Amino acid sequence: MKKDSKIYVAGHTGLVGSAVVRKLQAEGYASVVTRTRKELDLLDTKAVDHFFSIEKPEYVIDAAARVGGIKANMTFPAEFLYENLQIQNNLIWSAHKHEAKKFLFLGSSCIYPRSALQPMKEEYFLDGKLEPTNEGYALAKISGMKLCEKINTEYKKDFISCMPTNIYGPHDNFSEESSHVIPALIQRLHKAKLAGDAEVVIWGSGISRREFLYVDDLAEAIVWLMENYDQKEFLNIGTGEDVSIKELATLIKGIVGYEGKLVFDTTKPDGMPKKLLDVSKLTALGWQSKTKLENGLKQSYAWFLEYGQKQK
Ligand SMILES: NC(=O)c1ccc[n+]([C@@H]2O[C@H](COP(=O)([O-])OP(=O)(O)OC[C@H]3O[C@@H](n4cnc5c(N)ncnc54)[C@H](OP(=O)(O)O)[C@@H]3O)[C@@H](O)[C@H]2O)c1
Repeated sequence: MKKDSKIYVAGHTGLVGSAVVRKLQAEGYASVVTRTRKELDLLDTKAVDHFFSIEKPEYVIDAAARVGGIKANMTFPAEFLYENLQIQNNLIWSAHKHEAKKFLFLGSSCIYPRSALQPMKEEYFLDGKLEPTNEGYALAKISGMKLCEKINTEYKKDFISCMPTNIYGPHDNFSEESSHVIPALIQRLHKAKLAGDAEVVIWGSGISRREFLYVDDLAEAIVWLMENYDQKEFLNIGTGEDVSIKELATLIKGIVGYEGKLVFDTTKPDGMPKKLLDVSKLTALGWQSKTKLENGLKQSYAWFLEYGQKQK
């Protein structure tokens, strides 16, 4: 990518897209193109095609999707499948048709089989049944990765994919209905601190282990891939380290300054005991995450205090 290349970041108002725009600007990329949902509804095939025919971006980073936690995925499985298929098909095919040089698609670690060995290596992809609670979302992601792979093979174009682990950081979604675990815990423990609640009940035993990557590290990895990687094989992006939900909640409790008790409700499900990506391929190519979980959580809480409380 040259510093004056035209780069379209789809989904620039979101957690990942906003960090990618910040990173591109910090690196001196001077021609970053964005459109809000109001200006361009990515579900609208004709409108997306028209946008590409006029703007002709040379590079495309697709950070647009319908994204949500377990509750949202279970309530709206049809929308998670339909909207994600539609958005990504529109973006990938228009980029291909209008001769974009490179396209980066963002998958998600839920594309791996629910019983995959841990840590999950890229070769475990499509080796078993999916987790049913987010099957619609995962099926759309699998199709997007495969479409990029097929275009890469058939047309010899740099259409690539990556597989980030759980992401958190500034611009996260703190809504009660659709947030992921870190913003949900920040929000709940902050509220409990203000209300002086004696305890906060957390679903599950707290023993299950998850991996979390700070969003600015993901943005750095994405720009690095745009500059350095053109293979059709997707790459995992993570920290290579996991933490138990109990450890995570305790860390957040300290950062928020909540002094009550954390109670783990063992009658509620834990989900998979462990979910960790094997990041050895990306590490061998030369990229590694930098931000320690505690530092990233402090940044998230600071952002929440300034902006996140206004979210619905
Ligand atoms: N968050 C994670 O933990 C995580 C982990 C792995 C992979 N990823 C992947 O990273 C990507 C970005 O996720 P995120 O967490 O940044 O999501 P997000 O914060 O919800 O952002 C999604 C973006 O897509 C836009 N969008 C959705 N539907 C649209 C439509 N019909 N027309 C136009 N724009 C639309 C949203 O616009 P509005 O602002 O108008 O809603 C927003 O800018 C997704 O592909 C996701 O699968 C995320």
